Amino acid sequence: MKILECSGLVKMYGKVKAVDGLSFSVEKGELLGLLGPNGAGKTTTIKMILGLTSLSGGKVIIDRDIKIGYSPETPYFHLFLTGYEVMRFYSQLQKLDRRTADRQIGRLLELTGLSGAAGKKVKNYSKGMLQRLAFAQALLGEPELLILDEPTSGLDAVGRIEMLGLIERLKYEGKTIIINSHILSDIEKTADRTIIIANGRLAGMTGKNDLACNSLEELFVKAVGGVAHVGTDT
Ligand SMILES: Nc1ncnc2c1ncn2[C@@H]1O[C@H](COP(=O)(O)OP(=O)(O)OP(=O)(O)O)[C@@H](O)[C@H]1O
Ligand SMILES: [Mg+2]
Repeated sequence: MKILECSGLVKMYGKVKAVDGLSFSVEKGELLGLLGPNGAGKTTTIKMILGLTSLSGGKVIIDRDIKIGYSPETPYFHLFLTGYEVMRFYSQLQKLDRRTADRQIGRLLELTGLSGAAGKKVKNYSKGMLQRLAFAQALLGEPELLILDEPTSGLDAVGRIEMLGLIERLKYEGKTIIINSHILSDIEKTADRTIIIANGRLAGMTGKNDLACNSLEELFVKAVGGVAHVGTDT
């Protein structure tokens, strides 16, 4: 069952065509990787899906009732708040009642390894801690669709392994997940299906089973120079 369908998405920033006729869909329960070089249009695509930026063309079809969690590429929080207060703030935006919020906040801070830093002001958080907090915030309200923009980019090696493990676990719990990344190995490890974007266009795609015999790296290199397509399950 499709949870999201993007059809012919176009985004112009003045004369710059950031996204150029991109179409893809996401099935319920799948983990889709959006892979592409810097400036390919990945973040812009996500922002169009979320309604954070307007569309210059095309359409996004998504059920209005679906709860979406979003972890941005460069998380920005009110720096004078503590990690716990940030989570409270977002739980209030979602209108979670106090008891539900406290239960979820405790669990999510624990899950992301931030319990010990919950009382610390966010201005004193490291980049990786901010990224963990952004991830924890995205999971508030138990969203069915999680959109993660570069979820591992600020993390150290252990943090990255933990984060990928966490993402896999959420997938097995049945969440639908879209991950933006320019890190091939992260996508290769986790995604059921990968869409390669270059210059705002679909430049290649692959399913996980295809990767047993085809390296994503090879496909990626081919794709950013032209259109590549591996396998059949796309
Ligand atoms: N707010 C903006 N105003 C003008 N141009 C923008 C804006 N946001 C993005 N762009 C341009 O749109 C193109 C796509 O940018 P986008 O941020 O979507 O790429 P990306 O694939 O997410 O890259 P990265 O891997 O570096 O995060 C780039 O050429 C970028 O300069
Ligand atoms: Mg980006």
